[in-house]
This record gives sequence, C-alpha cells and structure tokens, in this order.
Amino acid sequence: MRALTVPFHATPDKLEVSTLAVPSIFAATDVLIRVHAASINPIDVKKAAGMTKLLETVSFPFVLGQDVSGVIVQRGDDAGDFNIGDEVYSPLLKGAAAADYVVTSSKHLCRKPVTISHSLAAALPTVATTALQALARAASLQPSGDLTGKTVFIPGALSGTGHIALQLAKRVFNAGHVITTASPEKIARIPELLGEGTVDQVIDYTTQDVHKEIERGSVDFVFDTMGDALSYFSLVRPETGVVISLATMPSGEQALKAYPETPWAAKVMLNLVDAWYQWRARRWAVGTYEFFFPDPDIYAKDLEKVAWWVGEGKLRPVIGRTARLEDLEGVIAGCTEVKSGKGGTGKFVIELV
Ligand SMILES: NC(=O)c1ccc[n+]([C@@H]2O[C@H](COP(=O)([O-])OP(=O)(O)OC[C@H]3O[C@@H](n4cnc5c(N)ncnc54)[C@H](OP(=O)(O)O)[C@@H]3O)[C@@H](O)[C@H]2O)c1
Repeated sequence: MRALTVPFHATPDKLEVSTLAVPSIFAATDVLIRVHAASINPIDVKKAAGMTKLLETVSFPFVLGQDVSGVIVQRGDDAGDFNIGDEVYSPLLKGAAAADYVVTSSKHLCRKPVTISHSLAAALPTVATTALQALARAASLQPSGDLTGKTVFIPGALSGTGHIALQLAKRVFNAGHVITTASPEKIARIPELLGEGTVDQVIDYTTQDVHKEIERGSVDFVFDTMGDALSYFSLVRPETGVVISLATMPSGEQALKAYPETPWAAKVMLNLVDAWYQWRARRWAVGTYEFFFPDPDIYAKDLEKVAWWVGEGKLRPVIGRTARLEDLEGVIAGCTEVKSGKGGTGKFVIELV
C-alpha cells in the first residue's frame, strides 16, 4: 500500500510516498480501515520533524496522519457494533492515517457524519474532540457550570482548532459574546465559512492590539490555541476567568500521562515551567489556567455528538487545501503550511480514494 512517510526526523520537504505492507489487525477490538481521506495536524509535522522526540520515540519510516475517514474492510472478533462496509472517522492514537490502509481500535471510532464527504469528515476528529472537551472543561469551571451568555475569546478564527471551537462556543455552548482574531485577508471570509453570527467581534491581530480591543477583566474563557496564554491573563474576569491552552506546555504529570516515555528530567523541567505559568496566573487573579490534552477515552462519544451537530447544521468543518496522496508536491506544500502555522485556512486534507 502507499503511505506518506519520512525516513528519519525531517521537515516536510523530505516527505515521501513509500510502499509498505498493509497493516494487520492485532487486537480483537481492532479494525482495518480503507482510508478515503486523512487530515494533517500540527502534531504530525512536529513529530516528523523530531520536535517531540524528548517525549516519545517514533519508528521509521514514520507515517503521518492523525485523523482518518474511511471504510472498514476487516474487523476483529470484538469490534463492537462496527461491521465491514461501515463508513467511520476517528482521531488515531497511533497515527499513520495518511496511507491506503490503517489499523485502529474500534474503541475510538465513530460512524462518519452521513451528510458530508470523507474529506470533510477527516478534517474533524482531532480538532473537534479537542475543542469540545476544552469547552466542556471551561464550562464546568464557571460558577454557573456553563458558558451560556458568557464572553469567550478564541484567537485564530480560521485555524484548525479555532474554527471548530468558535462554532461550538456559539451554537452548542450558547456563549454570549464570542471574540476572535484573524489576519486581514481572512476576516471577510469568517461569516461565509463559519456562519453569520458565529463571531461577535473580530480583531485583526496584525494591526490591532487585543489588549486595547478587549476590556481588561471581561472575558470568562480564553481558549489559547496559539501559545500566547500568558499575554491573555489580564483579559480574564478575576477569580472566575478560565484560560485553557493547547499550545503552551503540559505539566510534567500531563506529559507523562500522554507520553509515558517522558524522561524524569523533562518532567521536572515541565513542572517548573507550569509552576511559573500558575504563579503568573495567580498574580492576575485568573480563576484557572491549564494546559490541555483531550481524554481519548471519550473520543467515540464526542464524535457521535459532533456527527449529530454536523447533521443539524450547527458545525461545519472548513478545508483550506487538499492534495491527493500521489501529488507529492501538493502534499509537501500543505504539510509545509501546517508546519509554518501561517497562511492555512481550516484544515489540510490528503485524499486517497
Ligand atoms: N494539546 C492538544 O492536545 C492539541 C490539540 C490540537 C492542537 N494543538 C496545538 O494547538 C496549536 C494550534 O493548532 P491548529 O490545528 O489550530 O493550528 P493551525 O490550524 O495550523 O494554525 C494555523 C492558523 O493559525 C492562524 N494564526 C497563526 N498565528 C496567529 C496569531 N498570532 N493570531 C491569530 N491567528 C494566528 C493562522 O492564520 P494566519 O495565516 O492568518 O496567520 C492559521 O489560520 C498547535 O500548536 C497544535 O499543535 C494541541
């Protein structure tokens, strides 16, 4: 089968389309999926480049792709309700989605939303489960236990995580005032891509200062997808405001849970960095600051909800760029854009069927 690989830790320009053996079902709960589409997340290109090598060892050739949408072609004896021919989507714990076939556990699988293509479905798993769980966590930390009517700030309107989080914040969590940031070329496209009324205030982050545009101490929840959490502490409501970040640094304990190979020294270093963040958060009287990793044990349930909201028209994934796997130039361009963290709109999807 074909697979998108790097032969060693490398930047996207070294990507290759390799020929590998079709993977075999290992556990009774596993399924073999014929991949129709795979989306690329920043973590794929970071892992390929060796940016996480302190925390985990990857084997080579390393196959990229954390998100899959495809059709089950083989199932283990204990694969639950899933059958051959089912169209499914999933965030893969072990990656390797950018290949003709992938084996994964049925425990993290869900039937794909019927109203959208495999490409659109592949755009959803990681960003939708992450955004949903982060919003649910932020809601649980509010004194009211929800985000209804609350002021929410989610930078990066058309980033992978941001574009989904904004829609969920407004249409599922009923946030009152939803603020975001974008570069000038993207601002005009926000209503068209995310739906009229999803966002109440857009700040052009290239020319405007969020600290001038957002009143100090007025935000109930900041979802930091850019790693700028520290600079947002002054914006949150004292004592109750919540800052959840996907892109600062996990604490040592969080790293160890997500990456069991995390060395002792790295754990200590991460705990020190986290302690510093917590200290800064306390100085601004932030109610809660947390780095966030989603819980894989609830992926399947989350994806069922996501499929439902897609069907109801509450959630629409945005794809800025696609490439077929055989178009290596297009694949490299898409992965390079993801690695740069600039220029992309929504998700980059690789199509295989
Ligand atoms: N902890 C977790 O489990 C987890 C899960 C998912 C993602 N993440 C991390 O979260 C981060 C974001 O992921 P993603 O998939 O959303 O990334 P992404 O889609 O690749 O981010 C690129 C987008 O961000 C925008 N952007 C870049 N800098 C910006 C800034 N300063 N202000 C506003 N927008 C800006 C870009 O817009 P312009 O081109 O207009 O600049 C582009 O639209 C990554 O670091 C990723 O590794 C972590």
